[in-house]
Amino acid sequence: MPQEKVLPADPRAAVIVCLDFGEDDYEERVEEVVRLVESAGVTRHRVLRGRRNRPDPKFYAGSGKVEEMGRAAVELNAAFIVFNHELSPAQQRNVERETDLRVLDRTELILEIFAQRAQTNEGKVQVELARLQHLSTRLVRGWTHLERQRGGFGRTGGPGETQLELDRRYIATKTKTLKGKLTQLQKQRGVRRCARERSDVLSVSIVGYTNAGKSTLFNALTKAKAYSADQLFATLDTTTRRIWLPPANPVVLSDTVGFIRDLPHGLVAAFRATLEETVRAELLLHVVDAASPARDDQQAEVNKVLKEIGADETPQIIVYNKIDAAQLEPGVERDQYGRISRVFVSARTGSGLDELRSAVAEFGVARNAERNPPKASISI
Ligand code: GTP
Repeated sequence: MPQEKVLPADPRAAVIVCLDFGEDDYEERVEEVVRLVESAGVTRHRVLRGRRNRPDPKFYAGSGKVEEMGRAAVELNAAFIVFNHELSPAQQRNVERETDLRVLDRTELILEIFAQRAQTNEGKVQVELARLQHLSTRLVRGWTHLERQRGGFGRTGGPGETQLELDRRYIATKTKTLKGKLTQLQKQRGVRRCARERSDVLSVSIVGYTNAGKSTLFNALTKAKAYSADQLFATLDTTTRRIWLPPANPVVLSDTVGFIRDLPHGLVAAFRATLEETVRAELLLHVVDAASPARDDQQAEVNKVLKEIGADETPQIIVYNKIDAAQLEPGVERDQYGRISRVFVSARTGSGLDELRSAVAEFGVARNAERNPPKASISI
């Protein structure tokens, strides 16, 4: 009798679980998780929806939904189930046992993307640390039913991730080494930053929700080629370039990691160093995707995270980007004190960018005047 050939599960296929707990922005959450999963390298997926009042204690979703996950995974030949939610270690383990598939929760999904994107040594160390910290919360007996290595999309495992190594001692030692390395790297960065601060340049950071167009704007303003793509978190590490905006002093412009709603707290802490540039900047260009229906929520979410990292007092210019897609006109809006509050641009077409340059220069001139007030002449 011919034997049915069993194909190995496709690491680029995933079943996505996004449950509706009655949130107003449920559809946007679905869209976002799909883009996150695609950003992680998944090319085929199916979204399973469902309404619940509260998570099921055992599986997070109901047992019927878990069966549905198993069936969808077979049909797709998927290697992963991705929950757009935070699962407890027990819930994650229970679904894995039930379906015999690798389950990722939202934190692990974001970590996976961060791991794929990190470019600099500091970024890589931060991701590794965040991963270890997350892993240490999952270190409970019972994982051994998963004989294979735990790895991310498109891979079957990674160095340092075999079951045998998953013990607390290993994690503690590794965490200590990585923290030491990180301190060293941060010192080096601190030295570079001090040199900049002494030189009296105006430091400006571009912040914004992921995919708002930060890298495109950064490239347009600096003519540098920071990596820009229609993927979430295309940029992970801070990129910094110097630009000249007469009559202001030279400006140091930094592109930063994209913000995202419900960024797991562990990750915010782990990425603090990356965001440190943001905290230290004198001016924030807060890029908003003007064409997104969720633009107000995204703007609020970014402000929330800025507050968490102590950057909520830093002056901001809101940059309404993608006006070409939103069908808005370029221009500048001022607040009641005459200060520029919002600039409408398209980083892609270049429209409104001159106004933005002038806005930054205007801020720079005002800041210089504040720093070096004209000396009062005393006549006797
Ligand atoms: P992260 O690195 O994920 O935080 O993204 P980002 O904010 O740096 O966005 P990025 O510059 O990578 O742009 C995201 C997508 O939006 C890309 O496909 C860009 O081409 C597109 N985009 C950027 N600016 C504009 C614009 O002015 N108009 C239009 N229509 N699309 C734009």
